[in-house]
Order: sequence, then C-alpha cells, then structure tokens
Amino acid sequence: MTVEPGWVPPGIDTTRANVARVYDYWLGGDHNFQADRDLARTIIALDPNIRATMRANRAFLGRVVRFLAGQAGIRQFLDIGSGIPTENNVHQVAQDTAPGSRVVYVDSDDVAVAHSRLLLAGNPDATVIQGDLREPGKILADPETQLLLDFTQPVAVFVVAVLHFIPDTGQAAQIVAALRDALAPGSYLVICHACRDEQPSLANSFESVYNSRVTARLVMRSRDEIAGLCDGFTLVEPGLVWIPQWRPDFPDDVPEDPSRYWALVGVGRYDGPPSPGR
Ligand SMILES: C[S@@+](CC[C@H](N)C(=O)[O-])C[C@H]1O[C@@H](n2cnc3c(N)ncnc32)[C@H](O)[C@@H]1O
Repeated sequence: MTVEPGWVPPGIDTTRANVARVYDYWLGGDHNFQADRDLARTIIALDPNIRATMRANRAFLGRVVRFLAGQAGIRQFLDIGSGIPTENNVHQVAQDTAPGSRVVYVDSDDVAVAHSRLLLAGNPDATVIQGDLREPGKILADPETQLLLDFTQPVAVFVVAVLHFIPDTGQAAQIVAALRDALAPGSYLVICHACRDEQPSLANSFESVYNSRVTARLVMRSRDEIAGLCDGFTLVEPGLVWIPQWRPDFPDDVPEDPSRYWALVGVGRYDGPPSPGR
C-alpha cells in the first residue's frame, strides 16, 4: 500500500485526480497521490506511449529554451501552466544558456506553486506566482511579473500543454491575443497542444476519462484550431509539428510515426501589430 506523503499543502483535495500531479506521475515524479496514479495508469492503458509523449514534451521544452536563450537572444521568459518542477526547468536551461535570464512561472495549482517556490528560493532572477491562464491581465499585472519582466523588451511566453485545459476555443484565442497584445516586437509564443486529428477515438477516450475524473476539462483540438490559436505570430521553422519533429538534436530522435506523440508544438515570433496595408 502506498502511504500518502505528509507534504501536502493545506486544503488540497487529494482524493480527486489533478492535472499537475497526474503529469508529475507520468514524468516519474513523486508529488502525486493515489487518485492521480490511478487515473494516470488508466490513461497508460489507453495509450502505452503516454509517458514517452510527456518526456518528449519536456525534451521539446529544453530544445526551445536553448533556441530562445541562444540563437534568438531572448532573456525574459513567462511560463504559464509551468507545472510541478522536474528536470530541465525553463529557468535552469535559460540561465545555463544565458546567465541572468529572468523567468516568471505561473500555475493555478497549489502543489506546483509550493514546490516551484522551494526550488526558486535564493534565485533572484526567477519567481513563481499563483495565477490562472483564464485571467491573463492579472498575470501580466502581477507585481512579481512586473518586477522581473520588462514588457518593452522581448519576452517568450510559454503555454505548453495547458491551452487544452481551456475548453472554449474562443476563450483560448482571446487569452493568447491578450498575451500577444502585451508583447514587444521580437517576442515569442511557445505552444504545445493536444491534437485529435490522427487518433480521434483515442482523443475521445482521453477526454471522457479526464472530464469525468480530473479537476480540469481537457479538449483536444484539430490542427486548424491549434494553428488559429497562434494568430498574429509567425511560426519559425519547422512550423506546427508533432513533438519530436521540432528541431530534434539528432535526426534519429524522430520516430517513424511521430503522430503517436499526439501533441502539436510550435514557436511563433511576434513582429508587432499588422500595419494597415499588411
Ligand atoms: C500538463 S502540465 C504542463 C506543465 C509544463 N508546462 C510542461 O509542459 O511540462 C499542465 C499544467 O497547467 C496547469 N494549469 C491547468 N489549467 C491552468 C490554468 N487555467 N491556469 C494556470 N495553470 C493551469 C496545471 O496545474 C499543470 O501544472
């Protein structure tokens, strides 16, 4: 029998599976409870590749941050829906690549925020705030965000594996637009979004398991809908692709059928509002 650990922040419901903790389990972390593990295993039974998919997502995140802090010269990062810290978190990769890079993490989950706070203690260039993606204005105006990030300069905004928890596509688009409108030209959007196109029946099963047993609703969107969420950004090469296809470190890292990693990822550059003739 697994003993419930004693580090639980007060007031959290450990009897219902939770997005951040289920993901932590798939990644091999130990900040999860029986309900999270039960749900995670139900999904592993539906898709035995799910843990590999989640690890591929983390590897994608590492490659993107190295690209942004390296080649793209970005020094400011806003990671929304950042999750429970694991390995190669954004601030670690960014600050290794470009020391002094500043990072604000945002998550709505108590466990994610509590553990991020512990990890970031003593790091003057990184912080975490508790915030909800559905309220982008509050995230942007938060005193901690304002203290660390200068929005007159480029910022990379991450919405990685989180927009599919905003069920209304119109609302998801409005959120991205609100974030985009706060950015200076030369900023970036990083997206990873579950896509239903290649495996619609698996997508239906995921959605029904999540939506009956997890504290957040999951919506897997079509490629066109996901592309629409990147409106106003110009996707850098190779565009919107399956997770392992985004600038792999080695060509052999791309599996024969990359759509088994059923999330689309992309990095979009913001070049400012369209001029009247554009
Ligand atoms: C699947 S995890 C992704 C973590 C990280 N971005 C990554 O890709 O490794 C999704 C995270 O989004 C957070 N989340 C879900 N809905 C959110 C919302 N409305 N506002 C802020 N965070 C949210 C969850 O708490 C969880 O930590």
